[in-house]
Amino acid sequence: MEKISVKAARLAEAIGKQVLVRGWIRTRRDSKGGFSFIELNDGSSFASLQIVADGSLSNYESEVKHLTAGSSIAVEGEVKASGGRGQATEVLATKLTLLGGADPETYPLQKKQHSLEKLREWAHLRPRTNTFGAVTRVRNCVSRSIHNFFQEDGFLYIHTPIITASDCEGAGAMFRVTTLDLEKLPRDGSKINHALDFFGKPAYLTVSGQLEGEIFACSLGKVYTFGPTFRAENSNTSRHLSEFWMVEPEVAFNELTDNMDLAEQFLKRIFKDALEQCPEDMAFFNEHYDKTTIETLQKIVVTDFRRLPYTEAVEILEKSGEKFEFPVKWGIDLQSEHERYLTEKHFQGPVILYDYPRTLKPFYMRVNDDDKTVRAMDVLVPKVGEIIGGSQREERLDVLTQRMGEQHLNPDDYWWYLDLRRFGTVPHAGFGLGLERAVQFITGMANIRDVIPFPRTPGSAEF
Ligand code: 4AD
Ligand code: MG
Repeated sequence: MEKISVKAARLAEAIGKQVLVRGWIRTRRDSKGGFSFIELNDGSSFASLQIVADGSLSNYESEVKHLTAGSSIAVEGEVKASGGRGQATEVLATKLTLLGGADPETYPLQKKQHSLEKLREWAHLRPRTNTFGAVTRVRNCVSRSIHNFFQEDGFLYIHTPIITASDCEGAGAMFRVTTLDLEKLPRDGSKINHALDFFGKPAYLTVSGQLEGEIFACSLGKVYTFGPTFRAENSNTSRHLSEFWMVEPEVAFNELTDNMDLAEQFLKRIFKDALEQCPEDMAFFNEHYDKTTIETLQKIVVTDFRRLPYTEAVEILEKSGEKFEFPVKWGIDLQSEHERYLTEKHFQGPVILYDYPRTLKPFYMRVNDDDKTVRAMDVLVPKVGEIIGGSQREERLDVLTQRMGEQHLNPDDYWWYLDLRRFGTVPHAGFGLGLERAVQFITGMANIRDVIPFPRTPGSAEF
């Protein structure tokens, strides 16, 4: 008797084996001939395994004929060739044990289709649906692919801190971490006495591992971080989470063009792996959520990304004749409607925009000779918009200090970051990819809340 997954039992190689399979029932269908078909899923593959439960089973009348969707069972039996459509095999049960029933009166996931919104309320059960099984497997594939891509190229995986005292993006949208009693805050005159807090000063959840990534890149060359990231912005959109996962490579001696090359190769690799390694799941998304997703990814993998300066993008938008909600002129932060026009209508594919106005971007980006723009780059894709944000970093101590002043940051708080420019400074560059935006783009899922197991958004931290 071999313990085997549904995925393994579905392979023709398994025919003839005596196996034990366990999982959750999707459907049960009774045949007039006195036996039943059970669709069993255990998450190992999109497709379920057909179990044939014969009337001769000792519990056939008492249990098998009453099995309901969502119940968990263990089945012993032989894998046989199947004549059924879409399956090479089935298991003829010799023993079927009910592990846990699911009352059809109260089990929420009935056969009828539930809306994605409704399923968010049942985030503890939605992994049992086709959609969330598929999302979970693709998300896993992308995570593996991210590590493989960097590991195969000699990058070191750095675990950067989750609790931090510095605001990398300078946007101030950070969650505070404190053990102070909020009902009785210790005061020093009219101000809060932060010295009495756990870390002796204000601390936050990280918005990016970049600054610490730079430390390791400026010692060890090629590194990446991949971890949870927190943003306290009150953005209730289909592309924003308060907690998400970001992968951030950082490479010493890379300039902006190298950074773009890396980002392009990286995205192509994860798209290619998803297509190759999750064909069933991708076929499902293509059929039920976005009829163009496979074709779009296949095209992107073999096409060079368009690269153009922010200034040219603004010119294209100004000449487009489109009526935008946010009017376009040089210096504005591009809105989702602008990004979508560029990627969906004008270029019909991914675009890397670079050299953004210095006023729009954080202090650490390298200032160009024109003094007006910085060596920023955003990778934009159809539908999702910005999927990657990155830059060449400012390696000149004087310029960096001046930029901190412009953005009202205190250089003393960043003394260690400035030390990297004092001792053996080098050009370097990196970027951040939001894992969920990548999974959203690959699967074609419209809302980012449906590609992370337990979404955290303003007003919602259930589960
Ligand atoms: O453009 P961002 O803010 O860049 C940084 O944080 C840099 N420190 C990265 C670096 O250069 N090492 O964020 C990078 C990416 C975005 O392009 C987007 O994909 C994702 O992170 N992202 C979010 N994803 C989901 N919800 C949010 N609220 C996000 N904010 C950013
Ligand atoms: Mg950005």
